[in-house]
Amino acid sequence: MNTEQNNSKAIENIETKSVMLEIKDLRKSFGDNAVLNGFNLKLYEGENLVIMGKSGSGKSVMIKCLVGLLQADSGSIKIMDQEINTLNQKDLNILRTEIGFLFQGSALYDSMTVRENLEFPLRRHKSRFQNTSNMDELVTEALESVGLLHAIDLMPAELSGGMKRRIALARTLILKPKIILYDEPTSGLDPITSKEIIALMRSIQKQYKTSSLIITHDVDCARVVSERIILLVDGVNYVEGTYSELSTSTDVQVKAFFK
Ligand SMILES: Nc1ncnc2c1ncn2[C@@H]1O[C@H](COP(=O)(O)OP(=O)(O)OP(=O)(O)O)[C@@H](O)[C@H]1O
Ligand SMILES: [Mg+2]
Repeated sequence: MNTEQNNSKAIENIETKSVMLEIKDLRKSFGDNAVLNGFNLKLYEGENLVIMGKSGSGKSVMIKCLVGLLQADSGSIKIMDQEINTLNQKDLNILRTEIGFLFQGSALYDSMTVRENLEFPLRRHKSRFQNTSNMDELVTEALESVGLLHAIDLMPAELSGGMKRRIALARTLILKPKIILYDEPTSGLDPITSKEIIALMRSIQKQYKTSSLIITHDVDCARVVSERIILLVDGVNYVEGTYSELSTSTDVQVKAFFK
């Protein structure tokens, strides 16, 4: 069975899965710049959902509202059935440890080694991790998952762009998140390194049983990693479907993404 048939099969069954993340009628403006105008999505358990949209269409703003880096003007965000607007700071922090966020760029701490970068989230969430296994084991496991155990004592300045992206991914994985948010995981990488990152995203989905929201401009990435795709246009979901559905659409706005 080819990838596209696989994707269609996945989508047939998807609504029987539980919803990991649900956004309803999300709105966000900056002054008179209305960026999100009633955006909706459901992320189902185990799926990779890709969000595509032009530069400046509000993809990063949407993801920042999700993780609380920006406050939405209105709308509902439910993460594993918990409405984030109603949670107190403590419960919100606990819920956030279930979500890994790979920022646009890598956002490693330049003054820390790879090991220290990976230990950082563990130290911050000490209460959750002090009784599990020791830190060294967790760091080793996360680095092995991205194939970079040998880089453990290097500084970020000694890493290539692709290695930095992998280390950032390892730092996300170390908290064993149930949901991963990827903001442009392949941007700025050469085509071969991009392919490696894309393959890694699929293997992480299987190994860690994660559900992911992936923002990307990269059509190859969308084709390989997605079960479903949403196009964000003018602050709303313009269209949703599988890669094969969207890439063969006759709609002018949709076609523009798949040229
Ligand atoms: N903190 C902010 N203050 C004011 N305006 C902002 C802020 N963050 C984003 N914007 C505006 O919101 C709009 C959407 O920006 P956003 O970064 O979400 O785009 P994007 O879809 O992620 O684009 P790209 O593909 O280039 O990453 C832009 O017009 C941007 O100028
Ligand atoms: Mg962005």
